[in-house]
Amino acid sequence: MTAVIAAKNLKKTFGSLTAVEDISFTVTKGECFGLLGPNGAGKTTTIRMLYGFSPLTAGSLELFSMPFSENLRAIKLRIGVCQQENNLDTDLTVNENLMVFSRYFDLPRETARRRARELLEFFALDHRTEAKTAELSGGMQRRLMVARSLINQPDLLILDEPTTGLDPQSRQQVWSRLEELKSGGLTLLLTTHYMEEANRLCDRLVIMDHGKVLVEGKPADLIRRHAGREVLEIVQPDGRMREFITRQGHQFEDLGHRLLIYSQSCEELFTDLGKKFGDANCLLRMGTLEDVFLRLTGRDLRE
Ligand SMILES: Nc1ncnc2c1ncn2[C@@H]1O[C@H](COP(=O)(O)OP(=O)(O)O)[C@@H](O)[C@H]1O
Ligand SMILES: [Mg+2]
Repeated sequence: MTAVIAAKNLKKTFGSLTAVEDISFTVTKGECFGLLGPNGAGKTTTIRMLYGFSPLTAGSLELFSMPFSENLRAIKLRIGVCQQENNLDTDLTVNENLMVFSRYFDLPRETARRRARELLEFFALDHRTEAKTAELSGGMQRRLMVARSLINQPDLLILDEPTTGLDPQSRQQVWSRLEELKSGGLTLLLTTHYMEEANRLCDRLVIMDHGKVLVEGKPADLIRRHAGREVLEIVQPDGRMREFITRQGHQFEDLGHRLLIYSQSCEELFTDLGKKFGDANCLLRMGTLEDVFLRLTGRDLRE
């Protein structure tokens, strides 16, 4: 397996603040790898180091099997970056945004024109090529950001929260474009706090918090390991229900107004509870990545 990214013990401090304490992971060719974590976990700081925006405080980094610092220019030519914040040039049209960007990569004008045309078509923006970017909807601006990050035909595409703030239609559209790119062999690294996005796109992912990796794995394996195949939710539980569940030997997470029981199979308990207390308050569902995320990073608000 060819490693596209090999990050070892990445660390980044800003004065006395440690934004990234110790992050290691490997991304292989053709894979979609996710960095998940609550706000402030260090996702953006991590990927800024990966594309050379922010020097490492410590650690080692190889991209395309090349040590990072000695090959910065060669590496940068092979990656595309879609940053978290919108940084389109609002004075320029949709097409001009792509053309201006292509100059960073010394693309011949004709090549740049052709790629811009193809990318705008691919991202369903070809009817707005002459519009000023400020006139575009949020979803269109995002799609243009992603299109722009592909102008150099990168081997690795890095996306920082590509769909944050988008409506469901725009999000679905971005997802299906990213899936197409992936099936064309592109390696993807993305950060997100949408579990559905991670579940759908990522082959493997890490959940990080406070600058450290908590777990790494395939979404389905992480669910099995850290949540359970099934989750039984009990709404407005009373003392008798709590006692019954405890007596049966089940571990539960107590949110006061709601109990969550994680297990490989909750069906028997679900039936028993239904018989004894009525099943109006019980919901049996599959475990999700969101369960894993909340169990590992807690339920406290971060901002
Ligand atoms: N340039 C910077 N200077 C000082 N602190 C920073 C800087 N960039 C990020 N941080 C801090 O580092 C921590 C991690 O931030 P960030 O990587 O943006 O997290 P995430 O992307 O996971 O939300 C936060 O506490 C943030 O305030
Ligand atoms: Mg961020």
